[in-house]
Amino acid sequence: MRDSGPSPLDPFARHTMPRISVVLLLPLLLLSLWPTARVSSHHESGQWSCEPELEVRIEAGFKPGIITLDGHGDDWKDIEGSEFSLLPALDPDADKEYGGGKMTVKALHDGTSVFFLLQVDGNYVYSKGESPKCPSVALMFQIGDSATYHNMGGCKEGTDTCTNKTCKGHEVDIMHFSIGTAIPGRLYGGNPIDNGEGNGGDRFGHLVDLYAWSPHCRYIDGTGPTGNDSSAQNNWDGAWWHSSFNVHSGFVEEDSPYASDGQKGTYYFEFSRPLRTMDRIQQDAQFAIGKSSKMSVAFWYPINGNPWHGSGHFSINCDWVPLDISFGGSSLTRTASQSSWDATTAFSLLLSVVSLCLSVFVVYRVFGPRSIPYKPMEIALG
Ligand SMILES: *[C@@H]1O[C@H](CO)[C@@H](O)[C@H](O)[C@H]1NC(C)=O
Ligand SMILES: *[C@@H]1O[C@H](CO)[C@@H](O)[C@H](O)[C@H]1NC(C)=O
Repeated sequence: MRDSGPSPLDPFARHTMPRISVVLLLPLLLLSLWPTARVSSHHESGQWSCEPELEVRIEAGFKPGIITLDGHGDDWKDIEGSEFSLLPALDPDADKEYGGGKMTVKALHDGTSVFFLLQVDGNYVYSKGESPKCPSVALMFQIGDSATYHNMGGCKEGTDTCTNKTCKGHEVDIMHFSIGTAIPGRLYGGNPIDNGEGNGGDRFGHLVDLYAWSPHCRYIDGTGPTGNDSSAQNNWDGAWWHSSFNVHSGFVEEDSPYASDGQKGTYYFEFSRPLRTMDRIQQDAQFAIGKSSKMSVAFWYPINGNPWHGSGHFSINCDWVPLDISFGGSSLTRTASQSSWDATTAFSLLLSVVSLCLSVFVVYRVFGPRSIPYKPMEIALG
């Protein structure tokens, strides 16, 4: 397990986050019916509060054949994204918003894989081999139905007692990319060596595939507190880029730090993963076309050159954000208009005829001449 401890690899919150969403969603009347439950969740959250954005969604439309996974953002220019304020995950106060600006999250799928682009302005900062002195990002997805955004799945068990049995239902899937050893524009993530060992690690670029039940129970795919399972894989691929780079032919490690420090520009982080993976042990989120998933995005930045620590990240929201994997729009319309006289159409026609007959019958019974079955009713009323 390479991802233990509080440092570079510690995505998402270590503290309890408020769960205002539930409160906002329920009418006050309903709320008063369960005072205990609501009040206790307020107590947990401490004195500070955060109101999650309820309106935001991330749309992954069907757009095959336009994205090259190279860290560059230009192939995404026609894809609409969602904009998010980046607030400290542990202290979501608008005054402490990330100073570089908002993060744009774009997503799409090609029928087989889902793609993400994270785009955020930031002066260039890079320190080879020292990930906490470089920006970093993570994606988190709900796996288990009971997995909450806050506390990374929200299992209440401690480090010594959390297992796939005691925390069942609280699984979250995490992808974390620390770029200290990753050359811009190069592909990292699942590679033959780490996948050959049957785990979600990435010894080259640290684009790792993890799962967690809580911040204290977080493991590389394939490893766990009760033993390892060699069937796991790192299913993610990804690359990063900064707009201040002017070499597009391909960097090598010797080019580090790739650009001069402090240059204004935009960071790009680009990822893809198959919609479905071969996971059999609840360590990967599974996506389906036409379905919605729940996700979040975290961002670390060495503010004023100070290395970040694991829980010092910004987050796009303080609750899950829905991710909609939509159908291919155009092909759906074509299918519908193709066969004009198939079984479905015939059945619909039959249904229409039946309902027409029914309506005529009802009208006749209401407005037509009184018939014998109504008599007993009149007698009873009289
Ligand atoms: C599981 O794998 C991790 C990382 O490869 C290793 O450190 C650990 O010792 C393994 N655990 C068992 C029980 O084999
Ligand atoms: C928990 O994980 C262990 C080790 O990977 C595995 O052998 C066991 O079947 C898992 N149990 C459940 C309930 O998933």
